[in-house]
Amino acid sequence: MPTLERMRSPKIQLMLDAANRAAAYLESSGQRGVFPTEQALADLARFPRELPAGPVPAENILAMLDELGSPATVVSTHGRYFGFVTGGVDPVALAAATLAGAWDQNVALPVMSPIAATLDEIAAAWVCRLLGLPETAIATFCAGAAIANQTCIVAARDALLDRTGWSVEQRGLAGAPPLRVVASAEIHVSVNKALRIAGIGRDAMVLAPTDECGRVIVEEFPVVDERTLVLLQAGNVNTGHSDPFAELIPLIHRQGGWAHVDGAFGLWAAAAPAQRHLVAGVELADSWATDAHKWLNAPYDSGLAICRDPADLRRAMVFDAAYVASEDERPLLHLGMQMSQRARGVETWAILARHGRTGIADLVDRLCARARQMAELLEKGGARLLAPPALNQVLVRFDDDQTTDAVIAAVQADRTCWVGGTVWHGRRAMRVSVSDASTTADDITAAAEAILRSWHQ
Ligand SMILES: Cc1ncc(COP(=O)(O)O)c(C=O)c1O
Repeated sequence: MPTLERMRSPKIQLMLDAANRAAAYLESSGQRGVFPTEQALADLARFPRELPAGPVPAENILAMLDELGSPATVVSTHGRYFGFVTGGVDPVALAAATLAGAWDQNVALPVMSPIAATLDEIAAAWVCRLLGLPETAIATFCAGAAIANQTCIVAARDALLDRTGWSVEQRGLAGAPPLRVVASAEIHVSVNKALRIAGIGRDAMVLAPTDECGRVIVEEFPVVDERTLVLLQAGNVNTGHSDPFAELIPLIHRQGGWAHVDGAFGLWAAAAPAQRHLVAGVELADSWATDAHKWLNAPYDSGLAICRDPADLRRAMVFDAAYVASEDERPLLHLGMQMSQRARGVETWAILARHGRTGIADLVDRLCARARQMAELLEKGGARLLAPPALNQVLVRFDDDQTTDAVIAAVQADRTCWVGGTVWHGRRAMRVSVSDASTTADDITAAAEAILRSWHQ
């Protein structure tokens, strides 16, 4: 095989240039502030707004992307980005994504890519085992946790109606027996949108009261029946706390309802023996949404929709066309929203193959410990914790709404770290989400100092 240096084709040179630039980006991004400078933002105006009249050399395009684009990135891969629930990409996943990008596989049907189908199947099964989900469960990769929620909600809707003898495929939704939804009052906003798209409006929804940490209160849980879809969560986006599944789900099942759990990041607690008690009973649900992008640090576009019974997913998602008919066990296009799709499972496979069961447990434990460290430092510095820290989330407040907003703005301007704001029980708060595997104890110390400095300046 010729060495790469001797491969002089423009395509290979372009790939080597991209690899070099990507490596240089990774090497230097730690020295950059977490958020782009004013200059880098101003330079974005240099991207031409006019569509080029004709072809431009590919190497010029790559150079423009790197020279104007790289400085304007938000550095989420160096341990001090604590916004939303955003982890940096694991190096092995990035490397796998680079190779799989060159493969350019479509994993819609196994016949379209045997390698992608194989790794997708292994990765999906590993995720289910790691999370302690039932042997029967099937997981299918999708764009993110919001789409995973959407996929499961549509599967649940069709399954509940099917049990009443109503086929959505045949008869649609008009005139269907009405469904009820009981949702945690703290359910993630993506679920509300998913319900709307699924044809279920607010009037069909009853909110289950929650406590000061955002957990559903068992004693106040509304009545459920066999046409009720119940929406719970593992990991509240603000506090990190989870619903009491072990008590709630048997109750829901006794009344005939369907229990769905949004576990976008919180479901990963089940992968660490020391944290598993925080989501005890979550395996009893009928469906789960999660995201390998969040805690596992896979690249974006790594959501997972999971159903206890594969038939429920297939009923809702099957395409009826001869040219894509399939007797395969995992015909992905019949298990999710998309037809053509990239081989998403490759990156999650690479992470799980690289770190193994104990490596993932260690990752989960480590980020929980870093979140506790952050909470302790901020509390010691005088900030008020709005909930005991749970999993990888810290929710704090500084004096009053105005001060809290001012501290968040000052931290963002300082660029040592990045944190976002939220409203918790009517009051402004700062969210710190420790989601990047590369975050060290020193990163937390530096970030906590920056936050307290921004408060007291
Ligand atoms: C609990 C929860 N559900 C759903 C989502 C939506 O996830 P995504 O942005 O991957 O679609 C998030 C995002 O942070 C989340 O925290």
